Amino acid sequence: MTNDPFVAIAGVTGAVGAEFIATMDRRGFRVGKLKALASARSAGKTVDFRGEKIVIEELTENAFEGVDIALFSAGSGVSRWFSPIAVKAGAVVIDNSSAFRMDPNVPLVIPEINGNRIREHKGILAVPNCSAITALVPLWPIHQNNRIKRLIISTYQAASGAGAAAMRELVESTRASLNGQVFAPKVMPHPYAFNLFNHNTAVDPETGYNEEETKVINETHKIFEDGKIAIGVTCVRVPVLRAHSQAITFECEKPITENEVRAILARAPGVKIVDDRAKNYFPMPVDASGQDDVLVGRIRKDLSDPTGHSISMFVSADQLLKGAALNAIQIAECLINRKLLSAKKKAA
Ligand SMILES: NC(=O)c1ccc[n+]([C@@H]2O[C@H](COP(=O)([O-])OP(=O)(O)OC[C@H]3O[C@@H](n4cnc5c(N)ncnc54)[C@H](OP(=O)(O)O)[C@@H]3O)[C@@H](O)[C@H]2O)c1
Repeated sequence: MTNDPFVAIAGVTGAVGAEFIATMDRRGFRVGKLKALASARSAGKTVDFRGEKIVIEELTENAFEGVDIALFSAGSGVSRWFSPIAVKAGAVVIDNSSAFRMDPNVPLVIPEINGNRIREHKGILAVPNCSAITALVPLWPIHQNNRIKRLIISTYQAASGAGAAAMRELVESTRASLNGQVFAPKVMPHPYAFNLFNHNTAVDPETGYNEEETKVINETHKIFEDGKIAIGVTCVRVPVLRAHSQAITFECEKPITENEVRAILARAPGVKIVDDRAKNYFPMPVDASGQDDVLVGRIRKDLSDPTGHSISMFVSADQLLKGAALNAIQIAECLINRKLLSAKKKAA
């Protein structure tokens, strides 16, 4: 008998699911037993976990018996249906989908920012949208120092943010294009090779904002507990395989210099400054891929604001890691370290 948690992964065959396993390994996250769950399509296949082949089971309503921590990354419909079932069975759910993020009863957690909220969970904790996490990890320490009152973000989002099938589509469509062949998109709404397009979520006919942009705005307000920050976002899918990038401009209440921002970010958890003007070396998705930190560079005065209240910067982060799996495992570690798991289990 072990005291280490019984962990279930719902969506284990997906892009995020694979990173749950890799991240647990890399961080030495102790697991008593692992249950690998996916759709009926994957039932009977196996995943490797610490030298063992774990047989994948179909996610059903009986899947969570005895489970302590259920990591969900199988889409919001699956989370909406199965999370309450998992909680009822005694598990704490850490959900990567958008299903519960704006639910006032569900903590929306980036441990570097609001890890204190974890203890308020009622069985479900939500991992924020990957673009929101990428922007907010470096913006939070600045906001604490000198309140950000206005924020403009333009994203350059990788295929991996749309899952394993989108990554395959980028590779296959690029190959087809180089071979002069026609490729009909199946996952993305537009040709992906040598192209970029508005984020592939629905566009609100009234506002013109896509759902990804709305998530970034709403989730920033919830996580920073500051609904007054004025935010404009443009989310774009670019033909990069992995790791999202963003151009960010923010305006603070008090004047701020680029050196102040550099000093704040130099000691910020989860942030690495990559800002070499002489070598023209700044954050890039190829460098961010596989890294836990959000890379931040091109830190400079926003010349469109002569009052000296605004700074522009460029960031890249592996959204499969800090934007999803790593953030979830960090939450799980907090649950265990603060003994918030067993207390909830006893209460259930
Ligand atoms: N990719 C990212 O960077 C990222 C970041 C943050 C959050 N998320 C969220 O995480 C979730 C998964 O994303 P992903 O990128 O990993 O997608 P993905 O690569 O397409 O993987 C989807 C996973 O969900 C499983 N699944 C689908 N339908 C299911 C069902 N009815 N029952 C059980 N399992 C089912 C799939 O299993 P099969 O293989 O059996 O079909 C697969 O394991 C989404 O909610 C997404 O919004 C993704």
